Amino acid sequence: MKREITKAVFPVAGMGSRFLPATKASPKEMLPVVDKPLIQYAVEEAVAAGMTEMIFVTGRNKRAIEDHFDKAAELEAALEERGNQKLLATVRGILPPGVHCVFIRQPETLGLGHAVLCARPLVGDEPFAVILADDLIDARPSVMTQMVERYSYYRRSVIGVQNVARDDTDQYGIVRCGSALNDVHQIDGIVEKPKPAEAPSTLGVVGRYILSPRIFDHLANARPGKGGEIQLTDAIASLLTQEQVLAYQFHGTRYDCGSKIGYLKATIAFAMSHPDVSEEFIEHLRGVAASLPASEHDRAAA
Ligand code: G1P
Repeated sequence: MKREITKAVFPVAGMGSRFLPATKASPKEMLPVVDKPLIQYAVEEAVAAGMTEMIFVTGRNKRAIEDHFDKAAELEAALEERGNQKLLATVRGILPPGVHCVFIRQPETLGLGHAVLCARPLVGDEPFAVILADDLIDARPSVMTQMVERYSYYRRSVIGVQNVARDDTDQYGIVRCGSALNDVHQIDGIVEKPKPAEAPSTLGVVGRYILSPRIFDHLANARPGKGGEIQLTDAIASLLTQEQVLAYQFHGTRYDCGSKIGYLKATIAFAMSHPDVSEEFIEHLRGVAASLPASEHDRAAA
């Protein structure tokens, strides 16, 4: 397979129903964590991993994403006039030079697999990355950078996984692994959202994939799976009959920003290390912690 991964696909056509009413008129990928929308964290991760072509698979109500990555001439002129160089650099830095965005529509939300298939004409016959902006991962180097390193070495599709609670296997694609070398496992099987009792392991797929272009044939032939949707997981299971796929247990902390609690946890973690607010915010948290009622655990211990 080709050496470099230059294209990243961002499926952003989902409804974001778990965040209604916030997501009624604006995409869930534009929800900010401190001062940056989720989709910008995702794009920055791809850029850090050396990717230059950002492919967004969009749906209705997603214009804000296009606008976010577009040049904002009026805003820039206003900031320039006010001499606000810091904010000007922030706005101009959203997309570094040499990085391009392309947008393609997913006419119907038929599932993650279908969204990825929509990107086929733009990806062509080369390996590519898929990043789900809902999964915000705090990692240094970025998870995609870690995965590209593994890809460059093994030249196989690589899927990001982490250990999840047995009770939660029905929220993830779960892999069955064969032989492993450190944090890289060979995948023997993969199943979408199995019940805890039926899960082949507790290694859950998070929203990071480097995929061989052969996946497109498998997506094109995939039948509706879990939830009646075309599942990327099912196409990966089918790809396994043709070529090896690796699971990579990444190093980093993942926040499920598709859920309210995960989003709140991410906000706290990122605010605690944000140079503009960290000091005051940590002080505030100390006050909040001191005023919290004792937990069940503390009461039991007392
Ligand atoms: C999707 C995938 C699932 C994966 C998850 C990671 O599910 O279908 O295999 O584990 O993303 O976030 P979703 O959360 O979109 O239902």
